[in-house]
Amino acid sequence: MQGREHLAACGVPAAALEAEVLLRHALGVDRAQLYARWPQPVDEGAWARYLALLEQRAAGKPVAYLVGEREFFGIPLYVDHRVLVPRPETEWLVEVALLHTREVDSPVYVDVGTGSGAVAVALAVQRPDATVYATDVSSEALAVAEANAHRHRVSARLRLREGDALVPLQEEGVRAHVVVSNPPYVPPHARAELPPEVLAEPEVAVFAPGPRGVELHERIADQAREVLHEGGLLALEVAAKWDQAMQVAAYLEAAGYRAVRVVQDLAGLDRVVVGLWR
Ligand SMILES: C[S@@+](CC[C@H](N)C(=O)[O-])C[C@H]1O[C@@H](n2cnc3c(N)ncnc32)[C@H](O)[C@@H]1O
Repeated sequence: MQGREHLAACGVPAAALEAEVLLRHALGVDRAQLYARWPQPVDEGAWARYLALLEQRAAGKPVAYLVGEREFFGIPLYVDHRVLVPRPETEWLVEVALLHTREVDSPVYVDVGTGSGAVAVALAVQRPDATVYATDVSSEALAVAEANAHRHRVSARLRLREGDALVPLQEEGVRAHVVVSNPPYVPPHARAELPPEVLAEPEVAVFAPGPRGVELHERIADQAREVLHEGGLLALEVAAKWDQAMQVAAYLEAAGYRAVRVVQDLAGLDRVVVGLWR
């Protein structure tokens, strides 16, 4: 496939897969249909659309923005330039929240920095008896989260709030069984290490507000003490580097959380720090 070579030459890591995803999008077919029609020639219009998509991908646009969709925890989510593309490692936040509330009726979940609404919508879909509060500083991101909530018919149970960290929920007096967050955690000094497709994502979603990368995690941990029920769970995603897991775990312990531990992802990397409030 000529697209694969083009993307590989432009330094796209999963060139073969991404070229195929773009070709399917240009043709408007799924994977099975693509293989069933192979090797029929592609019509001129679809070919022109495919070449245009390849050019945009080669220029650094994430493939999820180009096709307008990314799957997360088994559900398709609408995504565009207003939100971070949800990552598979973030599914751990959903796992630990569900596990913690197995025995709780009508759980209340909070997702800080919801972006596309990935974690919040997944929780609402998994637990039809749950109420989910989700905050974000970006009104543009909240519009995407709202579209995803509507798409998965959970709008009535997903309360979206614009504002900083947990402040809107503190003001409302919300009490929750679980607070989860995947805050922006790339330290500004690491900008040069990032590939173009990450630099195409919103700055506010990628870059931490301070030099260590965990400054927002610490603020969320402070505020969550006022929002969590006794025995409630705080789960924060961290970068698997810059010593973030250790820093966040030490902060949670000093802030009075108990049973603090670091959860590793399938690649064995430190990924989520959890603690119980009292
Ligand atoms: C890394 S993205 C995570 C998005 C989504 N939860 C996910 O995992 O795909 C971080 C999100 O936090 C939001 N954000 C950044 N600073 C924030 C703050 N102080 N309070 C609330 N949200 C914030 C950004 O707008 C962005 O949507």
